[in-house]
Amino acid sequence: MAVLIYGGLGHVGSWVARKLIDQGEEVIIFDMGAPRFDSLGLDYLEQVRDKITLEAVDVLDAHTMLEMALKYKNRIDAIIFGVAVIAGPTFKDRPFKNVSINTVGLLNALEVARILGVPNFVNLSSGAVYGDQPGGQTEDTPFTVTDLYGATKVANEVLATQYGATYGFDVRNARLYFVYGPGKRPEVMHPLYQAMFGPLAGMEGIHSPNGGDQQLDWTHVEDTAAGIIALLQAEGMAGEAVNISCGVAYQHRDIVERVAKLLGKDSGMELGPGPFTPRGAPLDIGKARERLGFAPRYADINDGLADYKAWLDKTG
Ligand SMILES: NC(=O)c1ccc[n+]([C@@H]2O[C@H](COP(=O)([O-])OP(=O)(O)OC[C@H]3O[C@@H](n4cnc5c(N)ncnc54)[C@H](O)[C@@H]3O)[C@@H](O)[C@H]2O)c1
Repeated sequence: MAVLIYGGLGHVGSWVARKLIDQGEEVIIFDMGAPRFDSLGLDYLEQVRDKITLEAVDVLDAHTMLEMALKYKNRIDAIIFGVAVIAGPTFKDRPFKNVSINTVGLLNALEVARILGVPNFVNLSSGAVYGDQPGGQTEDTPFTVTDLYGATKVANEVLATQYGATYGFDVRNARLYFVYGPGKRPEVMHPLYQAMFGPLAGMEGIHSPNGGDQQLDWTHVEDTAAGIIALLQAEGMAGEAVNISCGVAYQHRDIVERVAKLLGKDSGMELGPGPFTPRGAPLDIGKARERLGFAPRYADINDGLADYKAWLDKTG
C-alpha cells in the first residue's frame, strides 16, 4: 500500500518521501512542481526517482485531483497533505491566492480521502496555531491567530479533524516549526533565513530588516520528516495533534554567530530589531517524545548547521 504525499516535492514533503522509501514504503507524489523535478536540486530524491510515482497536480483543481487519485484507487493507504504557501513576509501580498492554496487545497485533499475511502490522513500544520503565546506551548494551548498564514493553519486543523470524525477516517495534525536544512537553498528564501543560513552557501552582506530580537526553535528538516513519519505510523492517535520541532529556541543573532564560527569568518550579516514574525518559542515537544518516541537528532543546532553546510557544499 502507498502513501500519497501532496506537496511531496517541497522541502518537508521531499524528505518525508525519501525516508518512507528508505523504509520500503511505496510513495506517490502529487505536486504542481512535478514537470520541473530535474531542476529542483533534490539530489536525495533523484537517487530514488525510480521508486516514486510522480504526477503534476494542482490542489486547486479538484476534478484533476480526484481523477489522478482514482488512477491509484485501492493502492493508497494514507495521505499526507504538505502543500502550502508557507509563512513569510510576502504571504499577505496575495491573500486570496495564498489562503486558497492552503485551505481549499486541504479541503480538496480531504474530499479525495472521503470519496476514495483512504483510512489515514496527516495534515502538516504549524506552531503558528499558537500565535505569539510564550514558549513552552503544549498541544493544549488554545489557538491564537496572529497572521493570515496562522488563520489557514487553524482552519485546516479544525476542518481536517472534523472531516475525520464525520466520515470515519483517521486524521492527525503535525505541528511543525521553522524548518531549515538540505533541500532548501538560502538564495530563494526571505532575508532572515539568508542572514542566518546564507553564509553556508557563500552569501555575504545580507541585511534582514527584523528578527534580531527573537528566538525560535529552528528545526532540521530530517528531524521534522522523522517526526511526521512517527506520527503517521503511531498506534491510536486518531484526531490528535503533536508538536514537532527541535524543542530548543535559539536567538537569531546567536545562529549568525554560530555560522560565522563554523565558517571561521564573519560574512557581514545584519539583523534589524523586533521579531521576524509573531511567534513564541520553543514548542513543548514532550508529547512527541513520549507518544512517538521522537528524539531530534539535531537538537544541538551546531550539528544541524554542519550537516546543512555539507549538503550545500556537495550540491553547489
Ligand atoms: N517550512 C517551514 O518552516 C514550516 C513550518 C511549519 C509548518 N510548515 C508546513 O509544512 C508543510 C510543508 O512546508 P514546506 O516547507 O515543505 O513547503 P514548500 O514550499 O517547500 O513545499 C510546498 C510544495 O507544495 C507545492 N505546491 C504549491 N502550490 C501547489 C498547488 N497549488 N498544487 C500542488 N502543489 C503545490 C510546491 O510545488 C512545493 O513542492 C506546509 O503545510 C507548511 O505550512 C512548514
